[in-house]
Amino acid sequence: MDKLLLVGGSSGIGKSILELLIDKYEVHNLSRSQPDLSHDHLTHHQVDVLEDEIPEIDGINKIIYCPGTINLKPINSLKEEDFLNDFKVNVLGAVRVIKKYVRDLKRNGNGSILLFSTVAVQQGMPFHSSVAVAKAGVEGLTRSLAAELAPQIRVNCIAPSMTNTPLAKGILKDEKAIERIEDRHPLKRIMEAEDIAKMAVFLISEDARTMTGQVIGIDSGLSTLKP
Ligand SMILES: NC(=O)c1ccc[n+]([C@@H]2O[C@H](COP(=O)([O-])OP(=O)(O)OC[C@H]3O[C@@H](n4cnc5c(N)ncnc54)[C@H](OP(=O)(O)O)[C@@H]3O)[C@@H](O)[C@H]2O)c1
Repeated sequence: MDKLLLVGGSSGIGKSILELLIDKYEVHNLSRSQPDLSHDHLTHHQVDVLEDEIPEIDGINKIIYCPGTINLKPINSLKEEDFLNDFKVNVLGAVRVIKKYVRDLKRNGNGSILLFSTVAVQQGMPFHSSVAVAKAGVEGLTRSLAAELAPQIRVNCIAPSMTNTPLAKGILKDEKAIERIEDRHPLKRIMEAEDIAKMAVFLISEDARTMTGQVIGIDSGLSTLKP
């Protein structure tokens, strides 16, 4: 059975990924709080990936890294610390985790890594400069590592638009806000965690064995269409 290292199975998209694939994978989850799921295939490690030592786990051949930020402010309100923090959570945390297990992924076969960007890299949006800088780093990391680690390990990325998760609850705060955001999308929908999780499960599976270095937009058409 494939062995997945999931960072962020306690909330949002990571939680939905965990629910979708737990019957088929052995999963080691890293997050600060415990996922509210119990299953023979699931082992939880209480870890802050920015502060704590990343645990030794044998046999890992897939990694999904979910931690991210939505820190939206005009440029004059963004401090250097905001940029550094967004970079740490989105990029350096992923780098720490990948460095820890990359030799295992090479050795164990069917290696696959999945990272998360945002629609705001492809499509310029006001107040997104800090998160867009960090996520542009994630997209660069995806392509660089895809080149460096081929043919043993595939590396892909999903770039969602607004998705209904705890991370977005400050923005999706009431019906009016939800309607306004839905209306900006050509398909008039915001994403649910499961919409993103289904693509994540596909991308790490052998069904996607010819895909690497890709950034897949799941955004109800926002990044590419002008309605
Ligand atoms: N939701 C959206 O609208 C949206 C839009 C575009 C892109 N994205 C991207 O999609 C990804 C998933 O987002 P989401 O909405 O599912 O986020 P979420 O609900 O905040 O979930 C993030 C997960 O990462 C874990 N995590 C965060 N910091 C951590 C740390 N230092 N150490 C260990 N675990 C940590 C959290 O667990 P603990 O808190 O228990 O540690 C949680 O399980 C992110 O990269 C985000 O930037 C989301």
